Amino acid sequence: MRIPDHIIDQVREQSNIVDVIGEHVRLKKTGRNYTGLCPFHTEKTPSFHVNPERGIYKCFGCGKAGNAITFVTEFQHMGFVDAVKHLAQKLGIQIPEEHIDDPTGIYARKDAAYRVLSAVASYYADHLATSDGAPARTYFTSRGFSDDTVKAWTLGASPASWDTTMSFLRSTGYTDEHLSDAGLIVVREDGRMYDRFRGRAMFTIRDDVGRVVGFSARILTDDPQQPKYINSPQSLVFDKSRVLYGLDKAKRPITEHRLAVLVEGQADVVSMHQAGFTNTVASSGTAITLEHVQLLRKYADTVVLVFDADNAGQNATTKAIELALSTGLDVRVVVLPSGTDPDSLVRTQGAPAMRALLDGAMSFLQFQYERFHQLGALDNSLQQAKAVRTLLQWIAGVPDTLRHPFLVRELADRFRLQESHLLGELQQIASTSTQPSRTSRPATQPAASPPSTTPVSQQHADVVRALILPSERELLRVALVAEHGLALLMNKYHVTEDTFWSECGRRMFRRIQYADEEHSDIIKSVLDDDALSEAERRELADIVFTTNEVSLKWQSFEVEIPLLDYSRNVRDALVHLRMHRLQAEINELTAGIGSIPDIDEAGRVLYRVQELTAQREALRRVLNEHPDTSQWLDAGIV
Ligand code: CTP
Ligand code: MN
Repeated sequence: MRIPDHIIDQVREQSNIVDVIGEHVRLKKTGRNYTGLCPFHTEKTPSFHVNPERGIYKCFGCGKAGNAITFVTEFQHMGFVDAVKHLAQKLGIQIPEEHIDDPTGIYARKDAAYRVLSAVASYYADHLATSDGAPARTYFTSRGFSDDTVKAWTLGASPASWDTTMSFLRSTGYTDEHLSDAGLIVVREDGRMYDRFRGRAMFTIRDDVGRVVGFSARILTDDPQQPKYINSPQSLVFDKSRVLYGLDKAKRPITEHRLAVLVEGQADVVSMHQAGFTNTVASSGTAITLEHVQLLRKYADTVVLVFDADNAGQNATTKAIELALSTGLDVRVVVLPSGTDPDSLVRTQGAPAMRALLDGAMSFLQFQYERFHQLGALDNSLQQAKAVRTLLQWIAGVPDTLRHPFLVRELADRFRLQESHLLGELQQIASTSTQPSRTSRPATQPAASPPSTTPVSQQHADVVRALILPSERELLRVALVAEHGLALLMNKYHVTEDTFWSECGRRMFRRIQYADEEHSDIIKSVLDDDALSEAERRELADIVFTTNEVSLKWQSFEVEIPLLDYSRNVRDALVHLRMHRLQAEINELTAGIGSIPDIDEAGRVLYRVQELTAQREALRRVLNEHPDTSQWLDAGIV
């Protein structure tokens, strides 16, 4: 459903950030801000700041920042639309049902599918208590599931009959189209239909926000003719390649340590959660897909794979490693004792045994090395080279190039090869790779290296920090927080997005202009602008907050807050930017000078360098002048 923009604006405006956050975080008033313990990372001293005037928050520990809407999306793990709805409801803002936008009726059908799936999940859960549900009950008990667990996971039983479920659903008003859309019936060629799930133990599959989207139904007899599991088909609301079983419950625990455990089966997930490993999920009735790991990447930095010890499980592990690496996840692997799976291991050996295995998870390189070994794929040098090349290809696909040297070092150690040799190979693979290169890094800037000691969550922010120049930051600050700042920049100083040096600086300025045209509150709306990366939004929040910090200090000294005069800041920023451009040109020219064969040509380049240097020095002198003498501006120096 699409929510009209003016409603989103209204929600953004009217939400009281202190109330919204205060529901979940104990906030204390300190000056103009409120502070508290950050709900997004573990900390002992409060570094989470909320600014009620601007309606925004920022954590100075982990960098998370945003407005009321982003807080709800992050904290409640909701999508944007759901978060807006949630806040609108609290504010009593009516969201017009925009089903006029639904000419094919697809939204109405989806809606009905969700409703019937939720209804039948309760029906199966109730059916578990009947005599017909006894075999399923026995099965769940044999798995060691407690009553609470059965309830929490909406485990159930489907009636052992061809049409009991559909009769029930029809009697409550659902049509055959509803049942078919929800994947609950099978329609035969001759048009007759029957219940898809009959006499089985039912696992209710929910999507990441907890809506019922399908079922996985386990056999309860030992009829070899019947498949062990029958799963809901793809449907309007169930896309198997995008749903991870248990994610609705696991996402918060996953976010806490940015660590997820991925297992194979539903029973494994339930057992793991019951044993306290609440960051566990599984794909539901299908092999792991790229979409699965991308979904996981939203919440986790690291995934631990715990698949069955059998051949199929180990092959699935290899596939999952490859996919997960390509999304930037770090991957570790637990190999279980043969004949066990996570569920049976937890049940027979206990949670501490599982804990030990998880803690001792091996690196993906180690796993794959041993796997190759086991498969006899390292028996001669030819095969070894092939194996190494495969692993290098995986490494080349890791988006964070800063990880490459570390991974290569481990690979070199393992195969007793020279690191430098592997690095050369890696470069070759990377340059010939057909993989689309990540476009998120501005092409005009060299890759910045964030300090390796910083926590991962902070690293993205540092990358942006390194890419946008202090002077660009200053211009953005004026645009955001000075009264009429944006108009001032554009009209008096002729600032356009081209004034900015870095790609992200340009983008941030463009989005501020856009926000100014389209929304009533620039700051709040750029903070949930999905045309900006999270790092960019954090940067903007940081700019706003650090500005506020200054005035905060003034306030605590009980002096009049000085009316900030921005003309010097703007002038200096523009001059610095121009100097930066000159310097870049100078660097480029001098770097090439040595390789110019023609002496006259070299002389000309040298002369040009001197010219540019003189211009740069002239600009430096401008910095000492009074900012309001705007000759520098009129003279077009900048
Ligand atoms: N699966 C499936 N279809 C099958 C077999 C398995 O979709 N025919 C999927 C299910 O999602 C299942 C997972 O693979 O949860 C793991 O399979 P398995 O370990 O065989 O299921 P368990 O119920 O754990 O079996 P067992 O009791 O033998 O451990
Ligand atoms: Mn199993």
